[in-house]
Amino acid sequence: MMDLEQIKQSTLDLGQGWGFAHTTRVLKLVEIIGFGLEYDKEALSYAVYLHDWGAFPKYAQPGVDHALRSRQVAKTEILPATCLSAAAQAVIAEAIELHDFRDKRPHTSIESLLLREADWLDMLGVIGIVRVFAWGPNNLQTCYDRSLTRITGIQGRLTIPKAQELAEQRIARMKQTLQLLEEESFGIL
Ligand SMILES: [Fe+2]
Ligand SMILES: [Fe+2]
Repeated sequence: MMDLEQIKQSTLDLGQGWGFAHTTRVLKLVEIIGFGLEYDKEALSYAVYLHDWGAFPKYAQPGVDHALRSRQVAKTEILPATCLSAAAQAVIAEAIELHDFRDKRPHTSIESLLLREADWLDMLGVIGIVRVFAWGPNNLQTCYDRSLTRITGIQGRLTIPKAQELAEQRIARMKQTLQLLEEESFGIL
């Protein structure tokens, strides 16, 4: 049997330094933007921990989108070993598959909505920029451009009022930060 504590530990072990911290921030964001909403907290916690496992070296597969791969791993290897109901497992698998901001399909449950909007918020703001630059490559212009595509890819797509408010604030901070970066570097990145 597999429980949330073991999944949490594996996220720490397999997540290469970024996975666990990102997941912990997403959980915090879920709490903030989900305040006052009715959702299955247990199912969503599983979904948050498992949502990026398909990007971890142990499970990543070249050419397979990480969200889809995370779904496969969760659905076939992890969730069947938990005591979650079949219905909860299905909700978790769907939420994982639909979380990525490049996926334009609509959400299918409140849990999938909360996971994706919390995940997107962690791609915005100063934390969002820092994550892009940490990811690399060591070419600042590439990372700068990628930070801009985060803004254009996510702006205007959040639907939960609290998430919209946070997104607006974080996008303003991103623009400010990128502006400062450009000033200090004389535009030479
Ligand atoms: Fe992801
Ligand atoms: Fe993520």
